[in-house]
Amino acid sequence: MNFLELAQKRYSCRAYRPDPVEDEKLQQVLEAMRLAPSATNLQPYRFIVVHTAGREAELNRVYFQPWFVEPPIVICACAIPAAAWRRVDGKRYTDIDVAIAMDHLTLAATDVGLGTCWVASFDVRAAHEVLGIPPGIEPLALTPLGYPADQPEPKERKPLSELVRYENW
Ligand SMILES: Cc1cc2nc3c(=O)[nH]c(=O)nc-3n(C[C@H](O)[C@H](O)[C@H](O)COP(=O)(O)O)c2cc1C
Repeated sequence: MNFLELAQKRYSCRAYRPDPVEDEKLQQVLEAMRLAPSATNLQPYRFIVVHTAGREAELNRVYFQPWFVEPPIVICACAIPAAAWRRVDGKRYTDIDVAIAMDHLTLAATDVGLGTCWVASFDVRAAHEVLGIPPGIEPLALTPLGYPADQPEPKERKPLSELVRYENW
């Protein structure tokens, strides 16, 4: 699979089999996250690996969809804003750094046959409580991680002609 095929294959998986995820695959996915670039290489993030077994009810407090807790693993991408690079005008690049690392993770998961789905519409307070996230660390996105039990829909994307400008707006 070349990179374009991989990007095409990744999709938001919203149904999972309960089958275990091999530790080797989990480590591969986490390693891809680790290799992500970040502004001035500060890596201002922590990724929490959560095993869902027996914790379904409390994890559903974080995000209510039943499919969220179907796979054996949920991963929470957290930002450490105080540790992120800031441009001279004060803009922090934390969220971008986290997003790149999370994207590495989701693409690597696709590469080893695992499904993921970015989840941002979760309950932040519940995430702090349930996952024991200390103050100063900000949960930004979550994803289930497991074997898909659904099929991807055809991708709907704007055409390149709308998304790209060759200098002349
Ligand atoms: C930052 C971000 C947040 C998202 N949050 C959610 C979410 O809370 N729940 C959900 O079901 N999907 C969520 N998605 C998935 C998007 O709906 C999905 O990526 C988009 O519709 C394109 O579909 P695809 O991922 O299958 O290509 C999110 C995606 C991104 C990138």
